[in-house]
Parts: sequence; structure tokens; C-alpha cells
Amino acid sequence: MGEEAIANVLVFSVPIQGHINPLLQFSKRLISKNVTVTFLTTSSTHNNIIRRATAGGAAALPLSFVPLDDGFEEGHPSNDSSPEYFAKFEENVSRSLSQLISSMEPKPNAVVYDSCTPWILDVCRKYPGVAAASFFTQCSTVNAIYIHFLRGEFKEFQDDVILPAMPPLKGSDLPVFLYDNNLCRPLFELTCSQFKNVDDIDFFLVNSFDELEVEVLEWMKNQWPVKNIGPMIPSMYLDKRLAGDKDYGISLFNAQVNECLDWLDSKPPGSVIYVSFGSLAVLKDDQMIELAAGLKQTGHNFLWAVRETETKKLPNNYIEEIGERGLIVNWSPQLQVLAHKSTGCFMTHCGWNSTLEALSIGVALIGMPAYSDQPTNAKFIEDVWKVGVRVKADKDGFVTKEEIVRCAGEVMDETSEKGKETRKNALRLMEFAKEALAEGGNSDKNIVEFVAKIASWFW
Ligand code: UDX
Repeated sequence: MGEEAIANVLVFSVPIQGHINPLLQFSKRLISKNVTVTFLTTSSTHNNIIRRATAGGAAALPLSFVPLDDGFEEGHPSNDSSPEYFAKFEENVSRSLSQLISSMEPKPNAVVYDSCTPWILDVCRKYPGVAAASFFTQCSTVNAIYIHFLRGEFKEFQDDVILPAMPPLKGSDLPVFLYDNNLCRPLFELTCSQFKNVDDIDFFLVNSFDELEVEVLEWMKNQWPVKNIGPMIPSMYLDKRLAGDKDYGISLFNAQVNECLDWLDSKPPGSVIYVSFGSLAVLKDDQMIELAAGLKQTGHNFLWAVRETETKKLPNNYIEEIGERGLIVNWSPQLQVLAHKSTGCFMTHCGWNSTLEALSIGVALIGMPAYSDQPTNAKFIEDVWKVGVRVKADKDGFVTKEEIVRCAGEVMDETSEKGKETRKNALRLMEFAKEALAEGGNSDKNIVEFVAKIASWFW
């Protein structure tokens, strides 16, 4: 960094890969603006991160990691969504964060926290001069949908929803909890809680970029000072590498880096379908078998990241059967895979990070949404941004192998009208993404403004 730090910030993420990644990238951006950052993880994930960070050469990371006691042992499942877990988590993390801030002198200028932990605002308010910045890991469109829902403008399970600044939405385009909230009530309530105190927060930060959601952003900005700071991906995947920045690849999983890159190197340009459903999605057994058959039937090469806990669902002898045409790994270095010239498209569950990463690198998409905000992201991928297709599922949510073959055919064919349009749009959005984060771009300006404000903050 060289120069004296102008502000000191604590950044807190819930222990989920899809939240840690963007918050870590944001931390690096803050550091590049001369801010000292301490990255707070829960004690149950802290050791995991540090172990892999060290193994991955990230010892030189220009920020420190401090564990907050969440009351759980290392290895506690990160997908625990019981009310008891959330209550204990809130109580312990609040206490532990308060103790940390009390012990700091001078106090931090701000706490940047995951929007899923809105109660951190109450901790900040105990310390005059500590600003509260809520960081939303989903897009503004999804945020706006929840806000309309919480205002009673439409009901759970409603089909055909008309909302300002959006195309007409079917029930199946809404975040899953609003259409099928029997799935997990505590998670639904947690998701809604992100918006309970948005009138009181000091900063409303969103991992998105302005050109992506122009109308919705306008609608949001009429009510809150929403600032896009994304896309939060390491600078080397955009045009300008930040001095000293690296993709530290900090992960809760072991990425099979060389295996993926060597295999991709052996394939022709644009010939590979990369398949991944993120860090949490769980496919039903029969869906996994059908997907495996569908991928095989596409005739294309494919690289499929199947988390260790999901591998038992693969058909017997599948790896032998697909031979050189397919590579199955438990965890990929996703950004490097997306940026590889052999990758022709990305079949994704449409998690917001995966979506944004593909958009920023200019990769066309096949959306197969599973949970949470993913159906809405898939709707926008197909009908608004027009950067891919969304698989059509039957009424029980099942996607056939024929449908997988159809979607792969549409997106992988670079010569068809659809294939050409999809690629053109993907490259156009990639340019916007790069501009947003380049020096003087919209997101960069928002980060600079955030830093300037917290440096002289006193509410
Ligand atoms: C979740 C939600 O799905 C998402 O919609 C929400 O907004 C954030 O949290 P997750 O389901 O894990 O996250 O998906 P995603 O948002 O796509 O995040 C996964 C991250 O893991 C991405 O940054 C991706 O690059 C990384 N990843 C995934 C790998 O590095 N390797 C893999 O093999 C798979």
C-alpha cells in the first residue's frame, strides 16, 4: 500500500462461499484505496480459510483475518438453517464483534457487513463514529422484489406479478422462497430480514454494476442511496490488474486447479461446457442422473464441478464412460475456467456470483436455477440481458436430458442467430463490467466516495 492508511474497516461475511468471495474482493478494493481491512469470519470457518489461504500462497494477503466466536465448532455445516442456529449465531457474533470493537483504539471507521446479518447495525450504533455499511450479495432486482413483497404489493405463491421497473414476472421467476416458501421457513425469514432496517443503515452497497439493472436501480435510488460496487471479481479478470493484486483463490473447498487447466488446455477453443451449481445447491438423485445423461448426449466436451457430497449421485461407471470428453472435479478454480479459451459456455445454477463472473468475463450461459434468488437471475439471463437460455423444467421442477441437449445446442452453436446474439450481448456486458470497475468507472467512483465518506465519518 505504501501510503499511510486513511481509514480502518472491519468486513464481516457469513460462512458461505458465495458471500465470502465478493466481500473478500471488496476488501481488496478498499485496500487498493488505502484502507486497512480486517476480514472477520466465524471461528468455525476461520481455520479452514487460513489453512487453504496459506496453502494457496495467500500468506502475503494484505489484510488480516480475525475469527468471531459464533458458538459453533469448526466443521459445523454451513448449510445449517435451523432457527436455533440463527439465534445462537446472532447472539455470539454480536457479542464477539462488540468485544472486538471495544478493544480497538482507534475505533474502526466502519463495519461492512453481510446484509444477511442486519443486526450488526445495532452493534455499530453502540460505538459513535463507526459507520454501518450493509453489503448485498444479490442483485438490486432481487432486493426490489423482496421489498415489494414486504410492502404487501403481491402475495406468496402469486403467479403473474407486475412490478415497477421490471418485466412481468411469473411465479417461477421469483426468488424461490416467495413462490415455494415451505422449502425452509427460517431461511425465508432470514432473507426478508435483510430489509428490516434499510432506512437506518449508513451505506447500501450492492455487488452489481449500473448498466445491468438501469431501471430497477433508478427505482431503488429514489428511496435509498444504493451504490453498486461490483462486479466483485479479482482485477486480473478485468482489464486492469490492481498493483500487487492476486486471485488468492480463498476457498472453503480444495480447488483442483492444475487438473482443470491442463484438461482445458487439451481441448479446442470454445469447445467445453463448464458445469457448476455453486457451493450449496443439492440436486435430487434422479435429476443428477438425468443431467449426467444429458451432458453425455450433447456431444460436447464438459468440465463438471460436482461437490464431494454430491458425487455419490453420479451414475455408476460414469467417469469411465465419458472418457476424455468429460472431466469431473469436486471444486474448480471457477474464474480461471471461465476465462479459459476452451470454455464455450457455462451451465450454472445462476447463483449471483457465478452469474456476475460469467457476465464480466463474457461467457454465455445455460441457466438451471435451483434455489433462493437463482430463478430471477435465470429469467434476466434469458429475457432481459439475453446472454443465454434457461432450461425448461416440468411442473415438478425436473429437467430432462433432451432439454439439456436442446439448451447446449442453442448456446454452443456460435453460428446460429441465437448463438451469435448471445455472444454479442455477453461481450457487450463484459465491456460494461470492466468499465464499471476501471479507474473512474461508476463502481470505482462509488468505492472512492465510500472511502472518502467513512474517512471523515461521524453520524
Ligand atoms: C449463494 C447464492 O446461490 C447466491 O445466489 C447468492 O446471491 C450468494 O450465495 P452459491 O450458491 O454458492 O452462493 O453460488 P454463487 O453465488 O455462484 O457462488 C459460488 C462461488 O463459488 C463463486 O464465486 C464461484 O466462482 C465459486 N466456485 C464455485 C468455485 O470457485 N469453484 C467451483 O467449483 C464452484
